[in-house]
Amino acid sequence: MPLSKLLIASNNNHKVTEFKRLFAHLPIELVTPNDINLNLDVDETGDTFEANAQLKARAFAEASRLPALADDSGIEVDALNGRPGVLSARYGGEGLDDAGRVQLLLREMAAVPDDQRACRYRVVLVLVDHAKPAGTEDSTEGRCEGVVAHATSGTNGFGYDPIFYVPAFGKTIADVTSDQKDSISHRGIAARAMAEILATRTA
Ligand code: IMP
Repeated sequence: MPLSKLLIASNNNHKVTEFKRLFAHLPIELVTPNDINLNLDVDETGDTFEANAQLKARAFAEASRLPALADDSGIEVDALNGRPGVLSARYGGEGLDDAGRVQLLLREMAAVPDDQRACRYRVVLVLVDHAKPAGTEDSTEGRCEGVVAHATSGTNGFGYDPIFYVPAFGKTIADVTSDQKDSISHRGIAARAMAEILATRTA
């Protein structure tokens, strides 16, 4: 059966906005959990981006009986041995919002010299479609290399974007347009690879 409707399995409005932009050219109706009155919060108990994306995609596909696409993403900082990584959304505990997590990361990195501030965004996307045989889930990955800035700059994007400095732009991701972000971002790279898979399933 051709794939004509896809659930974006995320309650993060920023991510949903990015996916809608990145899949806008596909002949697929994109729906959110909110659109179908699905209230589901999946415990991210996996140790890897892939494991957590699988958990979310499987749970949302099961609950909605729609093909579901989930992502799990985060920022890895070399000077912190890859932290916060899979815990990026919960870095510093439940009490912090995006701005609080950014300030915490700036404090942890305060004494780290410029040549040791490398970081990257990573994402894994998993598509679960019950119309396909079990065990044939599709997944794609994306990475985006950057440097942790010394202070915030910009108001676009979300999460760690105000301190994610991209040398090629000479700016943080929060200082570039959404098209510029999509052209180099982890989610942009993974979504373009997933769009090619989705395109083969719409015929
Ligand atoms: P999760 O994928 O829901 O576990 O959340 C990943 C977390 O990583 C987000 O809440 C953000 O803090 C961070 N993150 C992932 N992708 C981005 C991005 O594109 N910009 C800024 N922060 C991001």
